Amino acid sequence: MENVEKVCQFLTEAGVYYLATVDGDQPRVRPFGTALLYGGKLYIQTGKVKDVSKQLAANAKAEICAFKDGKWLRVAGELVNDDDRGAKVAMLEKMPSLKAMYSPDDGNMQMLYFRNAAATFSSFTEAPETICF
Ligand SMILES: Cc1cc2nc3c(=O)[nH]c(=O)nc-3n(C[C@H](O)[C@H](O)[C@H](O)COP(=O)(O)O)c2cc1C
Repeated sequence: MENVEKVCQFLTEAGVYYLATVDGDQPRVRPFGTALLYGGKLYIQTGKVKDVSKQLAANAKAEICAFKDGKWLRVAGELVNDDDRGAKVAMLEKMPSLKAMYSPDDGNMQMLYFRNAAATFSSFTEAPETICF
């Protein structure tokens, strides 16, 4: 399995992760659940109307954290907007419940992928493993 695939699989199986952004000098964090591997990149999804989207437009630096089966994953990097329609369609196919709120051409649905990312898997029993992508 490709390293970035391992990261996406962990996020998918965890179901929920927490996304931190920067708002001036104030960290902001909220639960997220979207994760998709598309064209070799790790994508998440949001709405352009949300504060989280505005924060990322002003400062792309972000970090996410998920926990599953005694292991936790942190992914730190930049989240980059991608208006590729295929990425939106693929996300809606993977997570059909999003179709109640978003569609590829609604002007709101936003796909963001990780750039300059370092993903670290940690646990209390094993040495941390870091993957860069
Ligand atoms: C379990 C769970 C998963 C969520 N996943 C997402 C997601 O993938 N994308 C998204 O935009 N909002 C998601 N939300 C909703 C956001 O947490 C919520 O809209 C939040 O207020 C956005 O942050 P903001 O208020 O700073 O913009 C999720 C909420 C929950 C409870």
